[in-house]
Amino acid sequence: MSTYESYAEYYHDLTKYSPEGIASNQHRLDFDKQPSVFKEYPSQKKIDISYLLLLDRNPFSDVGIKPQKDFTNEEKYLAKLSTLLYFSYGITAIVPHAEKPFYMRSSPSAGGLYPSEIYVISEDYPGLEDGIYNFQVVNQSLAQIKKGKFKSGLLKATFDNPNINEAKLTLVLTGVFYRSSWRYQDRAYRRICLDTGHILGNIDVVSSACGFKAVLAGGFNDKSINEILELDEEEEQSLVVLPLIDKNNTVKDFPKALPSKLDKVNIKTPEGNRLIELHNRSNIEKFVNIPNIKIQSVEEKLSFCTKAQFDENKISFNWNKNLYTTLLKRRSTRAFSGESISKEELAALLDFGYHPELFRNETLDPNPDYFDASLIETFIAVNDVDGLEEGCYFYSKDGRYLRQIRFKNFREEIHYLCLGQELGYKASAVIFHTADLSKAVFKYGERAYRYLHLDAGHLGQRINLAAANLNIGVSGIGGFFDDQVNEMLGIPEHEAVVYITTLGVPAKNS
Ligand SMILES: Cc1cc2nc3c(=O)[nH]c(=O)nc-3n(C[C@H](O)[C@H](O)[C@H](O)COP(=O)(O)O)c2cc1C
Repeated sequence: MSTYESYAEYYHDLTKYSPEGIASNQHRLDFDKQPSVFKEYPSQKKIDISYLLLLDRNPFSDVGIKPQKDFTNEEKYLAKLSTLLYFSYGITAIVPHAEKPFYMRSSPSAGGLYPSEIYVISEDYPGLEDGIYNFQVVNQSLAQIKKGKFKSGLLKATFDNPNINEAKLTLVLTGVFYRSSWRYQDRAYRRICLDTGHILGNIDVVSSACGFKAVLAGGFNDKSINEILELDEEEEQSLVVLPLIDKNNTVKDFPKALPSKLDKVNIKTPEGNRLIELHNRSNIEKFVNIPNIKIQSVEEKLSFCTKAQFDENKISFNWNKNLYTTLLKRRSTRAFSGESISKEELAALLDFGYHPELFRNETLDPNPDYFDASLIETFIAVNDVDGLEEGCYFYSKDGRYLRQIRFKNFREEIHYLCLGQELGYKASAVIFHTADLSKAVFKYGERAYRYLHLDAGHLGQRINLAAANLNIGVSGIGGFFDDQVNEMLGIPEHEAVVYITTLGVPAKNS
């Protein structure tokens, strides 16, 4: 019998990286079994939405771009959807390769495996026949899966979420498990949710620029949504439902996240089955209210630590002008120079991540949806930031200040903790997104694991975009020695490290 209170905690423990575990892991990548990163619907009708993209050089066609003034009214509506999909998950770079080119997207992905798929369900949306579509990233088109009206099914599956009723378009983001588990085995579930969270970060900024409000509907009957999309549940399942309502309409009150069951069970699952087991256990069958509990921030326990306040942000992102160019140029930095960034720059990135309300006068949504961002805590290791002593800090989201918990330079340790990745050594600052897993599962059941990783990826993407905008280097890190991070940096033991974001000055030619 296991002593775990939830499957999520068991999964988390058994998918931790440790020096011994990595040394003894026999897994080798089998390139003959490498899955495609694209889903194909060979016999379905395809609707080309590529020509609606207003890019200086449209990568999907050699022909000149039709000026928007020539668009019909219906095309104008479809152009908004095409823009949203392209800048959220579309192809923004092509790397030539001997066998076939490698397509890079507007959203980052662990190992470039792109496990997420986006589906569009339309009803009464001008320019798009009612039905269900898969976003075909490879040529910026929509593959029509089914024609017809699906709102009543969606409403039932989302427990009558009133925002579904309001939306003429609903997006569903799914995870194709093997695309990521081919490389990362059971630990892939963490990265699938983080990757999908990054896409949510793009959707949050682009939808607003396109006139939509993306409303998270995290609590839904998984089986029903999977059935509507005709998914093979062994391979692919829904992660997020996202009605898009008109930006000027009021969002109807409905929980962004609902709990799933939490069974104290006799836990023992063979390796290789834990990813799907966790996902299946996180499924919701019926509506259950969120228990009325307040999770205390770890901050209270750190109130004795020295405080370093951030000044008011004076750095302008100029999103009104720079949003699309930032999304087009965003890339994960492959090498840092080791030079410093400034305290003001760090503060600006954190502000964009954690305080969207400060960007009210920009094009963006000042109040983007999270499942429950209060569950995520933030620790920052400062290697070289002008204006800040080196060490490890807790970041108070509410107070916009730091509390220094350790006083030393952690370059060597972070290099080791990030599995020897040079990015960790040369970064100026490293952000650790953490969560108290046992409290999170107490509130949201097994599904808490999904919400935490989606929210951490979403926060990570906002920091990515802010860094790309200011030409600061940035990369996510999904591989790290879990327990040793807490031990070495002084992060409280009960805070599970969910994700890492590295920041620094890009090395020349990186
Ligand atoms: C969840 C996640 C984890 C990642 N982990 C690492 C990592 O451990 N090391 C690394 O060098 N890059 C990491 N990356 C960056 C990816 O390698 C990168 O996104 C991918 O190669 C695509 O390139 P692009 O981001 O420039 O489009 C990660 C990205 C994500 C979203």
